[in-house]
Amino acid sequence: MFRLAFLFVGLLAVAIGNAAAFAPINCNVLSSTNLATKTRLNAAALIVQNKGGGHGELGFQLAKKLSSNDKIDSITILQDDSCNMKSEPFQSYASDLSDDVTVVYARLGDESVDAKTMQKWLGGDDAQFEYIYDNYSKGPEGSSKALLDCVKNWGCCKLYTYVSSAGVYQPTDTTQFPMGEDSTPIKESSGQAKMDNYVSVECNLPLVSFRPQYIYGEKSNKYDYIDWYFDRLTRSLPLPIPGPGTQKVSLTNSQDVASIFAASLDNEEAAVKQRFFNCGTDKLVTYDEVAYLCAEVAGIPKEEVKIAHYSGDDLGKGKFPFRLTDFYVAPDMAKEKLGYQGAMNDLKDDLKWYYEDYKTRGKKTIDFTKDREIIVASKSSEDVNVYDQYITTEQ
Ligand SMILES: *[C@@H]1O[C@H](CO)[C@@H](O)[C@H](O)[C@H]1NC(C)=O
Repeated sequence: MFRLAFLFVGLLAVAIGNAAAFAPINCNVLSSTNLATKTRLNAAALIVQNKGGGHGELGFQLAKKLSSNDKIDSITILQDDSCNMKSEPFQSYASDLSDDVTVVYARLGDESVDAKTMQKWLGGDDAQFEYIYDNYSKGPEGSSKALLDCVKNWGCCKLYTYVSSAGVYQPTDTTQFPMGEDSTPIKESSGQAKMDNYVSVECNLPLVSFRPQYIYGEKSNKYDYIDWYFDRLTRSLPLPIPGPGTQKVSLTNSQDVASIFAASLDNEEAAVKQRFFNCGTDKLVTYDEVAYLCAEVAGIPKEEVKIAHYSGDDLGKGKFPFRLTDFYVAPDMAKEKLGYQGAMNDLKDDLKWYYEDYKTRGKKTIDFTKDREIIVASKSSEDVNVYDQYITTEQ
C-alpha cells in the first residue's frame, strides 16, 4: 500500500505538475520546472538506484552533486521501491534533496517490465534523458533492458554512466598495485562485464563505466568495514588482521565517489574514449593504519591497540572486512583524463563523525567465535580468555 502510494504520487505529479499539493507525503515529488515536457535549456539526468543494502547512498550523493552542475537542469531518481524507506539514505530524500530532484519509486525487480512501462514510469511519452547513471543493473535483462530500449529510442544519450565495481578485477601474481584499468584482468563472466559490453557494443551508447571499491559515508546503511575495527577496539579485544597489515585499502567517502562520476561531465569525450575508470580516494591507508586511526578517535592510546597479525593463507580471513592481500585501486586515470581533483574528504577527519554515529547506533551483540579461533590457532595472543565474556555458547 505504502509503496504503491509512492509510485502513484510520482506518476500523478508528472501528470499534474504540481509539487505543492504532495509536499506533505513525500519527497520532492517535483515542481513543474523539471518536467520533461517543459522546454529545457540544458539536459536532464536520470539516476537509477538500487535498494542499497550497501551503497544506496551513491545515487543520493550524486543527485546532490548534479544539482549544482550547470549542464544539468533536472534530475530524476528512479528508485527501486524494494528499498527500506525508513533507512538511510532513502528517508532523507525528502528533506535533503533540492527541488530539481524528482523521485520515482518503481518495481525495478519486476522481470516483466518492458520499454512501454519504463517510459510511463519516467514521466510519459515526452520524457527523455541525456545523462543516465545506472547504479542498478546487474545485467541486460528485465527493467535494465527496458531502460536501455528507452534510451535507444530517445536517441539523445550523451553519457551512459554505469556504476560497476572494482570487484570485477581478477588480479594475477604479476598484477601491479594500484590495479590499472587497462592492465588488470577482469571477470568476463560477471554481470558488470556483460552490462559494459551490452551498453557499449550492442546498444552503441556512449558508455562510461566506473569501478568503485569500499565506500562509507553519511546517510549510508553499510557500516561493516569500519565497524569491524571499532567493535574490537571499544571492547579491548585483539584485532586479528591477516598478513603484515601493510596491505593498502581504498576507503572512500561516498561524496568523493559521486564527484568522480560527475567529473565525466567536464570531459565527456575523453570519458567515453577511456571508458573504464577506477573510482576511489587517492588517500590510501593500510589495514593497520585504519586500526590506529580508529583508536585515536576513540581515545585509545596506541600502545593499547592489540593488533594480532596472522597467516591468512592458513587461517582464512574470518570476519575481517578486506581481502587477504593487496586489492586496491587509485583514481589516477580519472585525474588524468577527467581533470578529477582528488578526494576532498579524509578518513582521519571522517572518523570523528563516524565514531559519534557508531556510538549512537548502540552496542550490538557480535559473534567473536571466529576471532577467537584465529587468535588461538595463531597463538598470537597469550590471553584468549578475553573472549569469555562475549562467547557464551562455547563448549
Ligand atoms: C552501485 O554502487 C555500489 C558501490 O560501489 C556497487 O557495490 C554496486 O554494485 C553498484 N552497481 C550496481 C549496478 O548496482
